[in-house]
Amino acid sequence: MRTIWWDGGQVMMINQRILPLEHAVVSYNDYHAVATAITDMVIRGAPAIGAAGGFGMALAAQQSTATSRDEMLDDLVQAKQVLDAARPTAVNLAWATSRLLELAAKSDDIPSAVLAEAQRLADQDVEINRRMGANGAAVVPHGANILHHCNTGSLATVDYGTALGVVRAAWEQGNPVHVWVDETRPQLQGARLTAWELMEAGIPMHLIADNAAGYLMLAGKVDVVIFGADRVAANGDVANKVGSYKLAVLAKENGIPCYSVAPASTIDLNAATGDDIPIEERDPHEVTHIGGVQIAPDDVPVYNPAFDVTPHRYITGIVTEEGVCYPPFTESLRCVKEAAEARIKEVKP
Ligand code: MRU
Repeated sequence: MRTIWWDGGQVMMINQRILPLEHAVVSYNDYHAVATAITDMVIRGAPAIGAAGGFGMALAAQQSTATSRDEMLDDLVQAKQVLDAARPTAVNLAWATSRLLELAAKSDDIPSAVLAEAQRLADQDVEINRRMGANGAAVVPHGANILHHCNTGSLATVDYGTALGVVRAAWEQGNPVHVWVDETRPQLQGARLTAWELMEAGIPMHLIADNAAGYLMLAGKVDVVIFGADRVAANGDVANKVGSYKLAVLAKENGIPCYSVAPASTIDLNAATGDDIPIEERDPHEVTHIGGVQIAPDDVPVYNPAFDVTPHRYITGIVTEEGVCYPPFTESLRCVKEAAEARIKEVKP
């Protein structure tokens, strides 16, 4: 199942705001609308919004009325700014738009070159997820009870998934895993999206309230904690869906390994530590309402950070498409980033 694709001059996306109750596809032919779709979480998950950024740049090139090459590049710089501002934490977005802009600057026929590269980026995401899945499956014990946070599956990527890709790969290799699915308040990506994906795949799971995680760990019912990442700092600090930090601390306290799974495009060597990662703050309405039903007093003050940062000392390993990084992360992440960049250059036509 692809989450995002290009069809006849438009970007198509599965609308994740209404899953699992409704399965609908939306289409966009304006990059501003793609930026709004990213902000509103019609599409979400770090690699998926990277792909959306790529196709947004392709739309911008298609929409441009520039009469010169320089004007066209100016239009793309402007589009990159609009798209990058849509969500600040996942670095995959700016990584993708930078890759497209760089390519445009070297191309003669900019609209077709940018579209071809956006499509290549989306296809590569699927292949990268499969490699991460294979690398990560090797660290999942036989028959493990896996605790998973947020949604990191096909829906959070172009297809297959990051942390959920590891679960999927382990299952496909015959490992009889079972997943504890965190509901993931406030947006319920676990309850709405991960539960749906795992049930579709026939992978054994139970949905749990976020607050049940500590109880399960103390009771010996969790063998490994696995989540994704929206940005990994050079020292291995991991920004991911709010609540990930709490799980990692509890895992360490209970002697349970905790892995983050992320493609090299999520590693930001310009962020020295987690302190350099911007944390998105979202609409209070997400906390005060569930499924449109108000659950808190009118006008209650709300603070709604969408992500948190897990300091690297709580992370056992970071699974990437180039292998599993272990401490010291500064060294292992740099090697992975270099290997991934060399691979992208190699496969270019
Ligand atoms: O706010 P979301 O739903 O976009 O957050 C998604 C996550 O936190 C994922 O864990 C992350 O993007 C990495 S996995 C694709």
